Amino acid sequence: MERGCVVWLTGLPGSGKTTIARILEKRLSDAGRMVEVLDGDEVRENLSPKLGFSKKDRQIHANRVAYVSKLLSRNGVIAIVGLISPFRDFRRRAREMVGNFVEVYVKCTVDECIERDVKGHYKKALSGEIQNFTGVSDPYEEPENPEVVVDTENETPEESAKRVLEKLQEMRYV
Ligand SMILES: Nc1ncnc2c1ncn2[C@@H]1O[C@H](COP(=O)(O)OP(=O)(O)OP(=O)(O)O)[C@@H](O)[C@H]1O
Ligand SMILES: [Mg+2]
Repeated sequence: MERGCVVWLTGLPGSGKTTIARILEKRLSDAGRMVEVLDGDEVRENLSPKLGFSKKDRQIHANRVAYVSKLLSRNGVIAIVGLISPFRDFRRRAREMVGNFVEVYVKCTVDECIERDVKGHYKKALSGEIQNFTGVSDPYEEPENPEVVVDTENETPEESAKRVLEKLQEMRYV
């Protein structure tokens, strides 16, 4: 069986996690791999509909996502997770739980994310309409030793995805 792994995309809202996840999904499935994308909003609705955005709730949710991605990855699937996962200790726990863990820091400044405001959430967070919003009213702890850092302010989505694929090749997951 091919080696599965978990590609864990962490970064600010609007940094590019979903965009990169979808490109990776296409590339890897075109190459004949089994792929599953576990991306923020949809996964949250299904796994944690009753949870909010306190640190505790975010931790519980991140654990659930890590657990499901582990089940997939041990069956040869490349599980691509897109989760803000703003706290270092969450990501460390996920890494410990999963084993075959590829942490990707989807790096982008808050200013640029505000400029993009893909979902209009920054506007609401800045006006106080949404609370506990990562990057505005809640912290984001940058990864210290991620396997990959992609700079979405200076790379195209294709370039960022390619950098992740190259790392997966280097680590012999593809
Ligand atoms: N190198 C890049 N990688 C990914 N996205 C990029 C890049 N350069 C520009 N972008 C743009 O940045 C935006 C990222 O939005 P996206 O929805 O992927 O963010 P997200 O991290 O999933 O946000 P959220 O946490 O709110 O779900 C898109 O409009 C995308 O086209
Ligand atoms: Mg997203």
